[in-house]
Amino acid sequence: MDGAIFYTSKYGSTRDYANWIAEATGLGAFDIKGNIPELETFDFLVLGSPVFYGKLRIAKWMRSHSEAISSKPTLLFTVSGTAEGAKLDGTTPTGLPQQMIEHIHHVGLRGRQSPKRLRWFERMVLKLMARATPDKQAAREAKQGFDHVDKASIQPAVELITTWQATDDAASPAATY
Ligand SMILES: Cc1cc2nc3c(=O)[nH]c(=O)nc-3n(C[C@H](O)[C@H](O)[C@H](O)COP(=O)(O)O)c2cc1C
Repeated sequence: MDGAIFYTSKYGSTRDYANWIAEATGLGAFDIKGNIPELETFDFLVLGSPVFYGKLRIAKWMRSHSEAISSKPTLLFTVSGTAEGAKLDGTTPTGLPQQMIEHIHHVGLRGRQSPKRLRWFERMVLKLMARATPDKQAAREAKQGFDHVDKASIQPAVELITTWQATDDAASPAATY
């Protein structure tokens, strides 16, 4: 089966992961803000998104492509500050419909954040969030920044993609929701 990577990234870490997964699997990686090929032409999809304020930056785009996503095996890798990552268990709003969450395979990766690169408004909101969280480490990182990007952490995503690539089209799993 053949697939492609579609991602969005604001500060570059999700783009780095998308490019590393592309290198490791031979898939093409496309920023959804540019010209992208038709999703329908692929057998499976790999989607990448950062988490901002608990929500997936790619959520709106995913909702607008729900038909294609629902009909194909789909891996979503999320990139976030906390080790816990994006919660896709229905306990917090992510911007995705529950049916879509149940359909996708999720791999959580950790990103980076540099206060110097943030807009004033973002720095203010993060300061307020830092005050509200009881987790001291998370509070410190929200204010001072962090770099948890780890190339080796793409391995579970690469393994799943490699399995899909090795799957015969005729034997492709039915993927509907
Ligand atoms: C304004 C702002 C809000 C964020 N909110 C969250 C959050 O709610 N949860 C989380 O785990 N990480 C959060 N992060 C961390 C980002 O997910 C992390 O920096 C990620 O690597 C950004 O991806 P990008 O470099 O591809 O844009 C936030 C970062 C910023 C700048």
